[in-house]
Amino acid sequence: MDLSLSLSGRRAVVSGSSRGVGFAVAKALADAGAKVAINYLANDKRAQAALDALKEINPSSISIKADVSAPEGAERLINEAEEAFGGVDILINNAHGRIIRNIFPKSGWEEHQSHIDGVLRPAFHLSRRAIGGMKSNGWGRIVNIGNNMLMQPVKGYSALTSAMGGLLGFTRNLAAEAGPWGITVNMVSPGFVLTEETPNTNASVLQSIKDSTPLGRLAMPDDVAGVVLFFCSEAGRFVTGANISVDGGRIMG
Ligand SMILES: NC(=O)c1ccc[n+]([C@@H]2O[C@H](COP(=O)([O-])OP(=O)(O)OC[C@H]3O[C@@H](n4cnc5c(N)ncnc54)[C@H](OP(=O)(O)O)[C@@H]3O)[C@@H](O)[C@H]2O)c1
Repeated sequence: MDLSLSLSGRRAVVSGSSRGVGFAVAKALADAGAKVAINYLANDKRAQAALDALKEINPSSISIKADVSAPEGAERLINEAEEAFGGVDILINNAHGRIIRNIFPKSGWEEHQSHIDGVLRPAFHLSRRAIGGMKSNGWGRIVNIGNNMLMQPVKGYSALTSAMGGLLGFTRNLAAEAGPWGITVNMVSPGFVLTEETPNTNASVLQSIKDSTPLGRLAMPDDVAGVVLFFCSEAGRFVTGANISVDGGRIMG
């Protein structure tokens, strides 16, 4: 029985993966043996650096510039990855639209709608386009990146948590529908993660997150990547429709 984390022979697409959490996930999948397509929106230089690093792990790695918030962009991303690799077995829905903090009821319907569009639309269109090939092969993995604020709300993020609730519902329903085809669909919900954006966060906020985290530190992108890798591997083959917080135990249950 093979219960390893190896992804040898698998072909993966990670949306929004030229930096941050997405890049850590792309690297973890490549380290495990998968061919990986990274994806980005605008920063060509950053994407080239990410691709160069991935190619050192697996020379078959590719980079695809596509705006996954638009259905055409999502479709093109999967088309180009399928053309390059001959198929796509693993899809990580990591790219989300911009998050705005705004207290309710100042945060109006348009803001809620834009978060729902920013979070759900890319996951919807990418999954819809990629799932046919997975179904034909009788094997597939979809992992949606969420946010642990869904489990413990923070004031000012009503629009984001509403969208995350939608993403969890989508994850579970797709898991139920795609299970019989050999496809698992899960969600990984990080708390605050140290990325290039971290310097913009107030030091006292960072300290209070650390202080209320049982494991006593802030999350690194690799912490999230490890859980995504588990879901994609044979070790995670009998888990579907699940949502795991990756936050050092800050939110339990
Ligand atoms: N960072 C955190 O503290 C944290 C906490 C909880 C959950 N999360 C979740 O983790 C995921 C990654 O977050 P992050 O902070 O690492 O990264 P991020 O800054 O949100 O995203 C960076 C990546 O996404 C690409 N991207 C953005 N919009 C895109 C679009 N429309 N189409 C294609 N690519 C797009 C960027 O490309 P360009 O550089 O070219 O723009 C870049 O590669 C998100 O889903 C986020 O909600 C993050």
